[in-house]
Amino acid sequence: MSNHQQNSKKNLGIATTAIHSGRHQTLERENSLPVFLTSSFTYNSAQQASDVFAGEESGNLYSRFTNPTVTAFEERIAAMEGGERGVAMASGMAAISSVFLGLLSAGDHMVLSRSVFGSTLNLANNLLAKLNIAVTQVPLSDLTSWKEAIRPETKLFFAETPANPTLEMVDLKALCQLAKEHNILVAVDNVFCTPCLQKPLELGADLVVHSATKYLDGQGRVLGGVVVGSEELVMEHIFPILRNAGPTLSPFNAWVLYKGMETMPLRMERHCENGQKVAEFLNQQPLFTGKVNYPGLPNHPQHKLATRQMNGFGGLVCVDLGSRERAHAFINSLQLATITANLGDVKTLVTHPASTTHAKLSEDARLAAGITQGLVRFSIGLEAATDICDDFAQALEQA
Ligand SMILES: Cc1ncc(COP(=O)(O)O)c(C=O)c1O
Repeated sequence: MSNHQQNSKKNLGIATTAIHSGRHQTLERENSLPVFLTSSFTYNSAQQASDVFAGEESGNLYSRFTNPTVTAFEERIAAMEGGERGVAMASGMAAISSVFLGLLSAGDHMVLSRSVFGSTLNLANNLLAKLNIAVTQVPLSDLTSWKEAIRPETKLFFAETPANPTLEMVDLKALCQLAKEHNILVAVDNVFCTPCLQKPLELGADLVVHSATKYLDGQGRVLGGVVVGSEELVMEHIFPILRNAGPTLSPFNAWVLYKGMETMPLRMERHCENGQKVAEFLNQQPLFTGKVNYPGLPNHPQHKLATRQMNGFGGLVCVDLGSRERAHAFINSLQLATITANLGDVKTLVTHPASTTHAKLSEDARLAAGITQGLVRFSIGLEAATDICDDFAQALEQA
């Protein structure tokens, strides 16, 4: 029995799971996970190779679909999400594509929340249409719309909650209950929360996907993705996409993510603490009063749901400055925050979604997703909160 299996039986806290799950040791007795940079693995005989490939003897096959460093990462995120099995992918979009391709066939139908990451929308609107898979987009928080969108051929609900970048949420327990009543699977993009703040599988979801590029790495170094769920669902529907289509996570990236996750519970605590402080600070500035979007503010329309469903309000704060010109001017005035399309870094990052992450959408699709030209997204980092607020204050003076 591996360390991970022993530890998962003990119901450990998430900070312990982040450090002790997915631990394996070679005969060298190393204390930190090695990176297995190897494309393939060797066997003592042709018979042994045949047995391993037939699944009659355990062992690694080929790094497109099995590699010890990648396996350790998969075990760690699966343990943290409370799932039986994780399958690592090259990026968050590879993970989302694998869910769509693994669960849906021509003639099927999926219900997708309107406010999701731009590439997820593009994938659903373009690739799935080519494959004759129908998609209905609904307002994320409106359960009646999800219900009305159900058809006899609906196979999947896909929700991103909180959504990027609107920070709209859906009541996951209620959504999963509705799906179960109609025999529909639910996949949840848990990027903004990570398992430290929200566990969709415990609320009834069937699969969780991550862009590991964000908080799992936490320091803006590598791309990665992962799908977590039950052994049966993941191995039957997701693993074959990895094995045959090959959206493989590199062992080096898996190692970076595995090590990054050791500090994730601590980092998420600080992201939440800083997010709250910055949101409250911005809300007190006359230019921003009433325009700050953060689930931890009591005036957020879904503050109660966030309190019930999440263990913290996260590190993403959004404001609407009314126009693209004002948004760009404010962004250009910031000195500490870096302008980039990423999120979930130790550094405070600032993004103008309408001209970057969601630029490929038509204006109508963008507005339907809740992204106005004035919207600015801040991914609040781990710097001293007073320094982040001071940067906003000097930018406000300039603007
Ligand atoms: C919520 C969400 N899901 C998925 C993705 C895609 O992840 P990746 O860039 O790792 O492919 C992103 C990227 O920003 C995201 O924010």
